[in-house]
Amino acid sequence: MAHATGSFRSDIRFLLGNEERSLCDVDPQMTVLEYLRLSERKSGTKEGCAEGDCGACTVVLGEPDGKGGMAYRTVNACIQFVPTLDGKQLLTVEHLKSSDGTLHPVQQAMVDTHGSQCGFCTPGFVMSLYQLWLDGGEDDRGAINDALAGNLCRCTGYGPIIEAARKAGGVAANDAAEQKRRSDIAARLSAMVDGAGTLALEHPAGRYYAPQTSDELAALLVQHPDATVLAGGTDVGLWVTKMLKRLDPIIYIGDVADLKSVSETEDALIIGAGVTYSRAHDALGRVAADVGELVRRIGSRQIRNAGTVGGNIANGSPIGDTPPALIALGAKIVLRMGDVRREVALEDFFVTYGKQDRHPGEFVQSVIVPKPAKGVVFKAYKISKRFDQDITAVLGAFAIKVVDGKVAEFRAAFGGMAGTPMRAAKCEAAMIGKDWNEASLNAAQLELAKDFAPMTDMRASKEYRVLVAQNLLTKLFIETNAPEIATRLVGKEAAHV
Ligand SMILES: Cc1cc2nc3c(=O)[nH]c(=O)nc-3n(C[C@H](O)[C@H](O)[C@H](O)COP(=O)(O)OP(=O)(O)OC[C@H]3O[C@@H](n4cnc5c(N)ncnc54)[C@H](O)[C@@H]3O)c2cc1C
Ligand code: FES
Ligand code: FES
Repeated sequence: MAHATGSFRSDIRFLLGNEERSLCDVDPQMTVLEYLRLSERKSGTKEGCAEGDCGACTVVLGEPDGKGGMAYRTVNACIQFVPTLDGKQLLTVEHLKSSDGTLHPVQQAMVDTHGSQCGFCTPGFVMSLYQLWLDGGEDDRGAINDALAGNLCRCTGYGPIIEAARKAGGVAANDAAEQKRRSDIAARLSAMVDGAGTLALEHPAGRYYAPQTSDELAALLVQHPDATVLAGGTDVGLWVTKMLKRLDPIIYIGDVADLKSVSETEDALIIGAGVTYSRAHDALGRVAADVGELVRRIGSRQIRNAGTVGGNIANGSPIGDTPPALIALGAKIVLRMGDVRREVALEDFFVTYGKQDRHPGEFVQSVIVPKPAKGVVFKAYKISKRFDQDITAVLGAFAIKVVDGKVAEFRAAFGGMAGTPMRAAKCEAAMIGKDWNEASLNAAQLELAKDFAPMTDMRASKEYRVLVAQNLLTKLFIETNAPEIATRLVGKEAAHV
């Protein structure tokens, strides 16, 4: 076996409900959905789109929380590969009913509120409702919408399902039976995988490695510089299900403990490359509320529970949501190859469309996000056809400092306007040192049109993109100069979008 030193094992160990599984002969690219339906013959979990959009395949994954309990989250089974289940508990709609046939409260609530018609979406909704129940339940319409935004229903409509969420309630945080169940499961999972070595599959269909430390990851990538790095799989999963790619080898970073931390200094936030959007959300929201809101609107709860900020950067997409905001904040990334680490300003990482400043064998280790200095106001605006679960057409992010009516500092970065996320250099130059008034706004808008030559695609025409980018500057002007004018939906209105 040609890879880093250490002890290795070649079976994937996890709990399916309460039953132990140890799988030795699995194509590493087999999705969890295929495994459930074809190998386990558990057909409750459905395939609607096979690309993370519809939620019909929603399952709940649990893993030890490091405090003796379990942390649960919903994911889309259609874009997760089976080996990523290692060390986890997988729960599907088949696991909710009691052994005596009593329905789980969320299932009963769906019956009581007539929350199902054809039933195709129902198992996915039930699993999202189950996660809400595990988290203690929710009464707030906005929070329920958020939890269900990744589940689409074509026939029932959402009213009865939202009602079911309210009716089902949730488990109490101090429920002794639930706490015991979680600590028992955590202990069983630890006994199955702790000290059992690194998962290394060498299947005829492809190889798959799941290092546990970043040293091990670095060594593996030096040995396999052309490997596909797999983080949350919310891009990579689709390469397999939609583009039918074969990936060999795959190196999974989701088990690398030291890449999963968020730490904070006085001036900056440091986000490990394995941190999911959901885990980064609160900390990013504290750096700047609009970054938190951007992250909240990425994909769905299921996507945010899997996808990582590191993956959003490493994929180099011109329409990834976090890069423009992080560039406007002046973020840097730490790249590592072997024992060599280097820091790169995020704006320099994106070279041109499809090309990033990352060498074969190198990986993104962390993102350093500076906190805005005193007096700097940060705003970010995502424009997409739908509010939730949609890809960006244009995203503008701005860090501005106005002193005595003059623009002292200004950084503007956009997504969807070029082949990479990019700063608007001419627009920035036009504003710095000028009075922050309508005349300088208009001048900056003209310069902004010279910064970019966007393309027309299915999301927006080039003319629309330029006009919207200019209008976002107007929105910034209003929000910084006349905050009494309402520019955003709030409260009930927002909850009903
Ligand atoms: C239904 C759906 C909705 C989505 N909605 C949005 C949205 O609203 N906004 C948005 O911005 N994106 C969205 N996405 C895209 C996706 O969530 C992001 O691009 C995500 O950040 C990718 O992260 P990941 O951890 O899933 O990466 P993966 O899919 O695992 O990897 C993505 C790429 O990055 C590489 N990579 C990952 N981590 C590293 C690392 N540490 N070092 C080196 N290379 C690495 C991989 O090799 C691959 O090339 C959506 C995707 C889906 C399926
Ligand atoms: S099948 Fe549609 S999200 Fe998985
Ligand atoms: S009940 Fe038919 S799609 Fe939702």
